[in-house]
Amino acid sequence: MCGIVGYIGDKRAQDILLSGLKRLEYRGYDSAGICILEDNDIKVIKSKGNLEVLIKKVDDQTFGSQGIGHTRWATHGKPSDENSHPHLSNSGQFCLVHNGIIENYNEIKTDLTEKGFDFKSETDSEVIVNLFEYLNDGDLLSTAKKVTEKLEGSYAIGVVNKENKDEFLVVRKDSPLVVGVGEGENFIASDIPAILEYTKKIYILDDDEMALISRGDVKIFDGNGKRIIKEIREINWSLESAEKQGYEHFMLKEINEQPEAIRKTLAGRIKNGLINLNLDMSEEYVKSINKIAVVACGTANYAGRVVGHLIEDKLRIPVLISYASEFRYNNPIIDQNTLTIVISQSGETADTLAGLREAKSRGSKIVAITNVVESSVAREADYVIYTQAGPEIAVASTKAYSTQIAALFMLLMELGYKRGSLDESTVKHWVTELIGIPEKMQIILENSELIKKYAEQIKDSTSLFFIGRGVDSVSCLEGALKLKEISYIHAEAYPAGELKHGTLALITDDVPVIAVATNKSLMDKIISNIEEVKTRGAVTYGVAFEDEIKLKDEVDYFMPIPRVDEALAPLLAVLPLQLLAYYTSVVKGNDVDKPRNLAKSVTVE
Ligand code: AGP
Repeated sequence: MCGIVGYIGDKRAQDILLSGLKRLEYRGYDSAGICILEDNDIKVIKSKGNLEVLIKKVDDQTFGSQGIGHTRWATHGKPSDENSHPHLSNSGQFCLVHNGIIENYNEIKTDLTEKGFDFKSETDSEVIVNLFEYLNDGDLLSTAKKVTEKLEGSYAIGVVNKENKDEFLVVRKDSPLVVGVGEGENFIASDIPAILEYTKKIYILDDDEMALISRGDVKIFDGNGKRIIKEIREINWSLESAEKQGYEHFMLKEINEQPEAIRKTLAGRIKNGLINLNLDMSEEYVKSINKIAVVACGTANYAGRVVGHLIEDKLRIPVLISYASEFRYNNPIIDQNTLTIVISQSGETADTLAGLREAKSRGSKIVAITNVVESSVAREADYVIYTQAGPEIAVASTKAYSTQIAALFMLLMELGYKRGSLDESTVKHWVTELIGIPEKMQIILENSELIKKYAEQIKDSTSLFFIGRGVDSVSCLEGALKLKEISYIHAEAYPAGELKHGTLALITDDVPVIAVATNKSLMDKIISNIEEVKTRGAVTYGVAFEDEIKLKDEVDYFMPIPRVDEALAPLLAVLPLQLLAYYTSVVKGNDVDKPRNLAKSVTVE
């Protein structure tokens, strides 16, 4: 959840580092810094605060053509100038940036202190740069090997050696790192958008791999220091797709990208009206599955819950839904007949990755649903279904959520059809409905003015409730999370039938209650729940199909969605909730794309 960049070439490094960090700010932004190698000296400029603070501090001070940079989301040591990266070794010979957590840093720090090293920061990262100094044998690569042998934990590291102005070194383990290949210049970054402006050719480093980056070459080595040849990947994302494209915020752009993102996620996966995910999952294995586990965090977890409901309902396979942070500590009942679905937009969430490894260790096959090609989750799974959402920059996940549901729904259909629990006509019907989703999403997006008005109405609330039944209660979980994380208003999702067992005590005059109601068979039930809260003074909002007149007449404010097969309703019901959260955050003047305390990818436990 930090962002690192690096450059070596013939241009002024500070310009490239700062523009790269700008595109990585979503990974963490409580402090930032750069180091530039210039005239055989290392200049470090860093500060607490977001990138704007650093840019003011840098202000044309350096002209060197090699350097590294970092934007931070604190894990060890509060946000401060001293704790910001890059970090210099005691003698000033080495300078380093790090994304990850060194779990044994205390022991290393104690050992180095006894050897005469002193430390200027509270960070775990500073022990790494002093290890480079302590173990330096004159060769950057062999020194790095000795250093990493001492480290336990996760790291993506960039390190510059003052005495070697022709190359710098990177190494990765459990934290993402890509190398950008240019003409007479080369780049490194935690994520692709940071270097896309300069090159579309990248190497994706695997765990324990290192690279020596010089102006004309990228030498990659495996964990044993052996030179390896990797395939260069051509990235088809245009830079614009990682930019705002005229929207005020990345989040609004990404909410509006959902129709196209769904189309791209479906593309190439529907043949003759049936699903073909090309998973290479044998029919024999598919029939052997007697349990499905879903392991994910936050919004990704809710996407899994939506389809988990359906899998149990339609495929009659028991589904174990787990928050990834809990999963590996619950002694889960998982074996070779369990298919574990791991969902992660970034593919780098530490808890989710740990859950994947836990399930694998118990014999389960893993299918990953992720948005990032070659992400750690993708590389460690047995099967991968990529959502084609394109880069999701806003911390609050939107298009990743809807494309995850679409991908999961396709997986459900393929499994169901192969197992004989879904017949051809059912699958073809759902496929037709799925293909129609983008157009129906567009209708909702084009009628968002109403939602803006509702945001004005709820903006000063201190607490809101989202209520629903069945799979609608999952849409409520996602709606509440969206609202909390960007408007900072407390919101709670509650199964509507459960309110009367305590929480109803919190419903008083003017408390907003948002009901999601797309299940025909439960409509009368949810309407009586709305009645319950109204008699206690609540102001009620309803998300339902546009032709649900009874529900519309029951609530104070209505948010209609176009009719679709109920199985797919969560794909539409979430849009008004995303927009409500977005406009509420805007009207409160919050930093919509980078909300306080949060980071886009939580790569620590
Ligand atoms: C959702 O808006 C949040 N940003 C957060 O809950 C996120 O979904 C969660 O951290 C999982 O991230 P991932 O999909 O990258 O694993």
